[in-house]
Amino acid sequence: DFYQNFIVDDRWKYITDGLQNTLKITFFAVLIGILLGFLVAVIRSTYENTHKLKVLNWICGVYLTVIRGTPVVVQLMIMYFVIFSYHDPGQVFTAVVAFGINSGAYVAEIFRSGISSIEKGQFEAGRSLGFNYAQTMWFIIMPQAFKNVVPTLANEFIVLLKETSVAGYIGLQDLTKGGDIIKSRTYSAFMPLIAVAVIYLVMVMVFSQLVKVLERRLQRSEH
Ligand code: ARG
Repeated sequence: DFYQNFIVDDRWKYITDGLQNTLKITFFAVLIGILLGFLVAVIRSTYENTHKLKVLNWICGVYLTVIRGTPVVVQLMIMYFVIFSYHDPGQVFTAVVAFGINSGAYVAEIFRSGISSIEKGQFEAGRSLGFNYAQTMWFIIMPQAFKNVVPTLANEFIVLLKETSVAGYIGLQDLTKGGDIIKSRTYSAFMPLIAVAVIYLVMVMVFSQLVKVLERRLQRSEH
């Protein structure tokens, strides 16, 4: 009856709990991705400009090639079933690490193109003011580069939000898996899966709107 079906029924919990995991993983993975990507981008552009950090640059090259050359779902499974197979730190933690490392590779390229999009004259200007390489990088190049990549960086959040939907492969109950569980328990696919899709869509649309506002602000401060 009504009471049984709508009040006591707590299948919505699969959706809300799942959504929490999805947001947690996305948020922390993007954070790791930005830190890691920044580090890799600095190493790579330092090598390009000064031919220092040769070994680190090589390691970064391998990292970028391997991570961007294999599917993120395979990386996630290797992290959980191979690397963490002796000591399970939890599925959410594993997912944060795997998606963070994955994101870092894509963010590194975003930062790198941001850095190389800054005119060479800016670099020479810094040096002629008496700044050394690191100072020029930090005070002149980075602030401009960062401003240029903010929209692309925000987009990485959206990509990752959708990409975490493969987290069910390690038995993690994210938003997608939540819908999937309801589907198999109720033998009805339509409602849970459409609900899951709508929730992702609304989140992406809201976030895209925020990015647009941010982009306009940054453009205005340009003048
Ligand atoms: N779907 C692609 C893959 O499986 C993209 C990975 C995530 N992309 C990203 N910008 N973090 O490898």
